[in-house]
Amino acid sequence: MTRVSDPSAPRIAIVGATGAVGNTLIDLIEKRGFRYRDIHLVASARSAGTELNVDGESHPVRAVDEFDFSTVDLAFFSAGTEASRQWVPRATAAGAVVIDNTIAYRMDPDTPLVVPQVNAHELDRRPRSGVIANPNCSTIPLVRLLKGVEQRWGVRQAVVSTYQAASGLGHPGIDELKDASRAALDHPDETYPAKEFTPSLAFNVIPKIDRFLDSGFTLEEQKMLQESRKILGLPHLDVTTTCVRVPVVNGHSEAVWIETHGVVDRTELVEVLAGLPEVTVHDRESRHAFPTPATVDDPDRVHVGRVRVNPNNPRAFWLWLVADNLTIGAALNAIQIAEELVERRTL
Ligand SMILES: NC(=O)c1ccc[n+]([C@@H]2O[C@H](COP(=O)([O-])OP(=O)(O)OC[C@H]3O[C@@H](n4cnc5c(N)ncnc54)[C@H](OP(=O)(O)O)[C@@H]3O)[C@@H](O)[C@H]2O)c1
Repeated sequence: MTRVSDPSAPRIAIVGATGAVGNTLIDLIEKRGFRYRDIHLVASARSAGTELNVDGESHPVRAVDEFDFSTVDLAFFSAGTEASRQWVPRATAAGAVVIDNTIAYRMDPDTPLVVPQVNAHELDRRPRSGVIANPNCSTIPLVRLLKGVEQRWGVRQAVVSTYQAASGLGHPGIDELKDASRAALDHPDETYPAKEFTPSLAFNVIPKIDRFLDSGFTLEEQKMLQESRKILGLPHLDVTTTCVRVPVVNGHSEAVWIETHGVVDRTELVEVLAGLPEVTVHDRESRHAFPTPATVDDPDRVHVGRVRVNPNNPRAFWLWLVADNLTIGAALNAIQIAEELVERRTL
């Protein structure tokens, strides 16, 4: 039980509580013993009145348009970008600090974009906008590794291909992948009426996540560049990405090529990566020689494998990473921001 009467513990709201990220946030609040004085679960009018369990207590889900944000100190938003644009200003005007999981405020100059293992210093004071933005789910594990490499050797360029799971589109994405996979097996000659992923993701890979931009890159690919620069404080960092949706239910993977300014010794590289907070390196001699979304056992860690220094250019290397997008890429990062805010008394 993490509901406490301590007046210094925050009163919190979870907007998007019925979603995949919201459900994960509730699990993490319970698992980490995040102390709160009061908790409110909020979603759209569609789920108002349903009940969800937190710490053994049943709580009604309230509709966001009827919720009074002056009753909370901290509001987690994971209800989609449009909902954040509409309701976050109301929450901050009522005095709540918002941790927002959407793209709505990430590039706003008055809003810090925070990965606590990389730039927790941004949380020393309350942001001018009242909002702290949670980065994109593929960006978070990448910058956590890039920070270590930048500090030791300096990053000249990173070239990344992502392999992103269906849960990146929440419950609707998971449901559609499962339904489309069943349909493809049962009715192989029929075209599945895909809505979330087009063409259908079943037994397929799709090299397009989010919309295309005039540059030919997708918005997801642009997010990874812009957000990495902002989080690491490196405005000229060269990160280029191809983002691909794959028929995995949950857990994003990335193949990462990094060119550095110095000669990289593989043993030292493995030590540097393994020494980063909450990173596990699955090296050649470990039981699982490489991580996969289906086999990693701890969703709260970034899993790294296939570390290879380029034999023709020892200033460059490959690695493979796996990170649970609902935890590392969303809810865990958000709760770790909240823990830092409580610790620093910035709420
Ligand atoms: N999934 C990921 O890996 C991931 C990672 C990083 C960031 N995010 C971001 O987190 C957000 C939620 O993602 P998700 O995966 O949890 O999606 P999801 O499973 O579809 O859940 C969406 C949640 O938002 C609520 N909602 C939708 N429209 C709303 C509105 N107009 N007003 C109030 N609540 C509304 C839904 O409530 P109802 O049940 O009432 O419909 C539900 O609780 C998205 O912005 C997404 O981009 C997701």
